[in-house]
Amino acid sequence: MTKLALITSNQGKLREFRSELSRLDIEVTSTDESCEEIQADTIEEVVRYCLKDLGGRGVGNVIIDDSGLFIDSLGGFPGVYSSYVFRTLGCKGVLKLLEGKEDRSAHFSCCIGCILGSGENIVVTESVSGRIGTEEKGNQGFGFDPIFIPQEDQRTFAEMSIEEKNPISHRGKAIRAFAEMLKRKRGVR
Ligand code: IMP
Repeated sequence: MTKLALITSNQGKLREFRSELSRLDIEVTSTDESCEEIQADTIEEVVRYCLKDLGGRGVGNVIIDDSGLFIDSLGGFPGVYSSYVFRTLGCKGVLKLLEGKEDRSAHFSCCIGCILGSGENIVVTESVSGRIGTEEKGNQGFGFDPIFIPQEDQRTFAEMSIEEKNPISHRGKAIRAFAEMLKRKRGVR
C-alpha cells in the first residue's frame, strides 16, 4: 500500500482525500509538516512554491491542497483569499456581498501538489462550476459548502455526503487525476 501524508489542519479535506484514495489502495495520513505559503495570484503558484520549499528540505511523500472559491460577479474574489475570507466574513458575509446581484455563478478550484520520495513532483488542478445560493443550507462538509450549489444540482455541497460530493467536486476530480498520474509515475518509495 502506498502511504502519503497530507499537510493540512482541515479535517474536511483529509476525509475527502481518504474517502477517494482508500479505494485505490493509497493510505493518507496527516502530518504536522508545514511549508512556506506565499501570497500569490493563483493557487498553482502557492502549491509550486510550497513544493519547492519542501523539496529543498528533503521532505517527500507528502501532498498539499490549495483550494479556493471564485465568484464571477466579484471578479473571482475570494479566490486565493478564500481561507482568510472564510475565517473573517464566513458564508454569511459572502451572501451579503452578493445581495442584489443577479449573477451568482462561481467555481471552486483545487490544486493538489505532491512531492514523491524520489523527489519528483505532481501538480494537478481541477474545478467545478456552480452558483452561490441565497441562504446557507446543509450541515455536511466544511467551509463554503453550505452556499455552493454545483451545476446541474439543486443541493448545496453541504447537503451531500462525501460519497455524493467527491464524484463531482473540484477536489474529487483533482484527487482522481492525481491518482492517475501517480500510477503512471510509480515513483512512491
Ligand atoms: P486553503 O486551501 O486551505 O487555502 O483554504 C481555502 C478555503 O476555501 C477553505 O478555508 C475553505 O473555506 C474553502 N474551500 C476550499 N475547498 C472547499 C470545499 O471543498 N468546500 C468548501 N469550502 C472549501
